[in-house]
Amino acid sequence: MTIIDKIRTVDTSGVPFAMKDRLHVPRERYFDRGFFELEKERLWSRTWQMACRLEEIPEPNDFTEYEILDQSILVVRQQDGSIKAFFNACRHRATQLERGAGRLAGGKFVCPFHGWQWNADGTNRLVYGKTGFAPECLRPDDLKLRECRAETWGGIVWINMDPNAGPLRDALHPIAGKLDEVGIEHMRVKWWKEVILNANWKMAQEAFLEGYHVMQTHPQLTMGMGESYPADTGADYLVYENGHACFQRKDMGAGGFATVDQMLGFYNLLAQGMDAQILDRDIHVLETLRNNLKPGEDVMAASARVIREYNEATGIPMPAGAELKPLYWGGDAFVFPNVFFLPYYSNVLAYRIRPYNNDPEMCRFDVWSLTTYPESHPPVRAKLLGRFDKEDADRWGLIPRQDFSNIERQQRGLHTKGYEGHRLSTEWEGGIANMHFELDRLLSRE
Ligand code: FES
Ligand SMILES: [Fe+2]
Repeated sequence: MTIIDKIRTVDTSGVPFAMKDRLHVPRERYFDRGFFELEKERLWSRTWQMACRLEEIPEPNDFTEYEILDQSILVVRQQDGSIKAFFNACRHRATQLERGAGRLAGGKFVCPFHGWQWNADGTNRLVYGKTGFAPECLRPDDLKLRECRAETWGGIVWINMDPNAGPLRDALHPIAGKLDEVGIEHMRVKWWKEVILNANWKMAQEAFLEGYHVMQTHPQLTMGMGESYPADTGADYLVYENGHACFQRKDMGAGGFATVDQMLGFYNLLAQGMDAQILDRDIHVLETLRNNLKPGEDVMAASARVIREYNEATGIPMPAGAELKPLYWGGDAFVFPNVFFLPYYSNVLAYRIRPYNNDPEMCRFDVWSLTTYPESHPPVRAKLLGRFDKEDADRWGLIPRQDFSNIERQQRGLHTKGYEGHRLSTEWEGGIANMHFELDRLLSRE
């Protein structure tokens, strides 16, 4: 029995526009207000979700705000380096205590309305004019900031608003283990940008759950394969429990490129088109293969060899045997409900897509270029470079602009009379069906 078949045994009769099979996705799932409200109540308020990168809050008292729908959560670094998360509302009359990101001056939250104060651990430290309040309104336990579950994995703080949720690690199984093998824990932010798209969050992320679109959307990346793409790319499309999925090379480190020139040509397209996954640093290292390829050595295996040699010489940490893992070679790993990791060598391109403005047809899309720095590299606080228009060619490389260009057209196409829903490839789009089945499983829970 496949994972999808197992998931289908869940009774989804209470879910509107539920998935009926793995071949079709009803169009209403991307715009219906009732469906969106059910996601709000039974998905976003109960699921582990990425709140921030750990390097956004490197020092004690650093905080950042995570917004999801009508909820705002403050993630705060504690004095001992641990992390806490709080629902962002003053316990007096609901004022949001902080917005955006920063460092708590004097190690305290100060409400901008009447000046009540809290320590970074959420305990109350000051109420002005205490005598003016009934004692029952000032019980210390009741005055504490309301805490939200927070755990870390992969250099990320994950939050869950459900106090009864299971541990993060169980929710991330088994995809977290695969990402651990390629050193996800060592990755740090090189740059971080965001874009707002007029499309449902699922519509936007489904553009990254398959490589089937590459032939038409990114023709420059098919290396002349034309219509045999993606059938001949040798990729495995895998779906997992808990809604996770990935696609990756079948044969690691062999057969990818016939010559060093061909390899460098492709990697230059990726480096220029994305400014992530393959970085200038890698291009310089890989160029040494023009004079350094061993007789009979496979080009991809040689690439891994020189990257490994460079990493060891410069103190860049990489797990032993990472190059034996398919994800190391340009795989695409989806972590349910809405985060992607696309590793390549010592780097990762990462995405997070979430609803925006309480609108089923808008989403907020973060893009990170992550890389592995030498261990001696000083920690740098990660900051959002900004929110940029999807067509801004100074801010987005060719590859993301190509991806963004289809998403809003799809969303508009959904409303066309006579359109009932998507039809999915069994070969390349199974990850999309798997994501929707997991969503239905969660939406069917009371
Ligand atoms: S609302 Fe925060 S102190 Fe009054
Ligand atoms: Fe794409």
